Order: sequence, then C-alpha cells, then structure tokens
Amino acid sequence: MVQIRKELEGDLLSIETLLDLAFGTNRKSKTSYRYRSGIEAVDELSHVAETADGELVGTIRYWPIEVSGHGAALLLGPLAIHPDYHGRGIGRALVFSTLAQAEAFGHELVFLVGDPDYYRRFGFAVAPRHILMPDEAPERLQYRILGEGMLPAMPATLMRARCLRDEMGPLSLPLPLSMERAGNAGRQSA
Ligand SMILES: CC(C)(COP(=O)(O)OP(=O)(O)OC[C@H]1O[C@@H](n2cnc3c(N)ncnc32)[C@H](O)[C@@H]1OP(=O)(O)O)[C@@H](O)C(=O)NCCC(=O)NCCS
Repeated sequence: MVQIRKELEGDLLSIETLLDLAFGTNRKSKTSYRYRSGIEAVDELSHVAETADGELVGTIRYWPIEVSGHGAALLLGPLAIHPDYHGRGIGRALVFSTLAQAEAFGHELVFLVGDPDYYRRFGFAVAPRHILMPDEAPERLQYRILGEGMLPAMPATLMRARCLRDEMGPLSLPLPLSMERAGNAGRQSA
C-alpha cells in the first residue's frame, strides 16, 4: 500500500537519492534546474509517495516561474517514481492530485519539460513555438491550463521567478494570476 502525502523536511535526503536514481547525478546540469537553483519549490504542492513501512518511492515538486509579458506560472517537476514501483499508477496519482491542488490554489498555467507521450494523459500539450524555454528542446516543453488561465498570445519566454524578485525586491513573490487579478483590480497589465 502506497500513500501520497505532503513532503516534509525529513524527506529531503530520500528525495535527493531517488532523483539521483531516476535522473542521474548530473541532473542539475539540465536546463530546468536553472529555474530551480536558489528558489524554493512551491511548498504546498510538493508531495511524496510512501510505502506502509515508510520507504519514500515517489516525489513531485513544482517551481514558481515567470512568463515574460504574462505573469506567474508553475514548472512541474521533477517527478520520479522508484523503478521497483513503476507502472502502479503512483506517477498518475501524484500528478493528478497535485494539479487539482494547484488549480484550487488559483494557479492557472503549468509548464514542464518531459516526454509528451507520458504527459498527454494529464492534459498537457506541446507548447506552441512562440513560447520559449531557452536552451530546451521545444518538442519537450509542454503546458497545461488550469481554471480560467490562458497562454500568452504573443511571443514569450519562461524566466526564473527570481528575475522578477531580483528586479523588484523581496516582496514581489509571484502570485497565481487569479490572485494578482483579485488584488489589482483595475491595474493595466504590462
Ligand atoms: C515516468 C514515471 C514518473 C512514471 O511513473 P509511474 O508511476 O510508473 O507511472 P504510472 O504507473 O502512473 O503510469 C504508467 C504508464 O505510463 C507509461 N509511461 C511511463 N513512462 C513513460 C514515458 N516516458 N513515455 C510514455 N509513457 C510512459 C507506462 O508505459 C504506463 O502506461 P500504461 O498506463 O498504458 O500501462 C516513472 O517511470 C519515472 O520515475 N521515470 C524516471 C523519471 C522520469 O522520467 N520522470 C518524468 C520526467 S519526464
């Protein structure tokens, strides 16, 4: 029996070990890690799968990112399941449950880099070419709209959330678009 629960601080070592196993120890050289280094994962969406005897066999995390000229979004990943537990629906459960939570928290746009054949089942589609993640293969960049979100119509680049914070100071943590709208009614978008 495997249960899904929120990630705790004590899980960190097991998660790192699982990610090294799934993606290799050089995983941090991947483009997507540029969006993660020095930035905290979205705490409420970080979940793990754990066996009845306490073995951590799955992890999913999301990072806040910025879409130029558009606003905040999420970057899903990494997602990893221990090889001994593949094909039991754990990945599916982690993705579906956290996407539902992301939507409930007001997030409206999720990107990821991965295999479209896997992520199609969760409603992801390959991003149109006018949405760019620099140095990443465009056919692996995928998106999913949540709630009333939408993709930018104009050319846009995925940026580290930190870019906005670096420019605007520590209080400008990116909010989900719906929260920004609620808190800034009447403000013109840039
Ligand atoms: C991809 C991964 C997360 C799937 O986890 P899982 O718990 O085995 O997945 P589920 O049991 O929910 O789903 C299994 C289904 O996904 C399919 N699947 C798994 N990896 C796939 C891939 N890369 N491409 C297409 N389909 C894939 C399986 O064939 C199976 O299909 P079926 O339902 O038709 O039998 C897991 O294999 C893993 O950790 N892989 C290594 C890390 C990785 O690639 N992470 C994803 C980032 S792109």
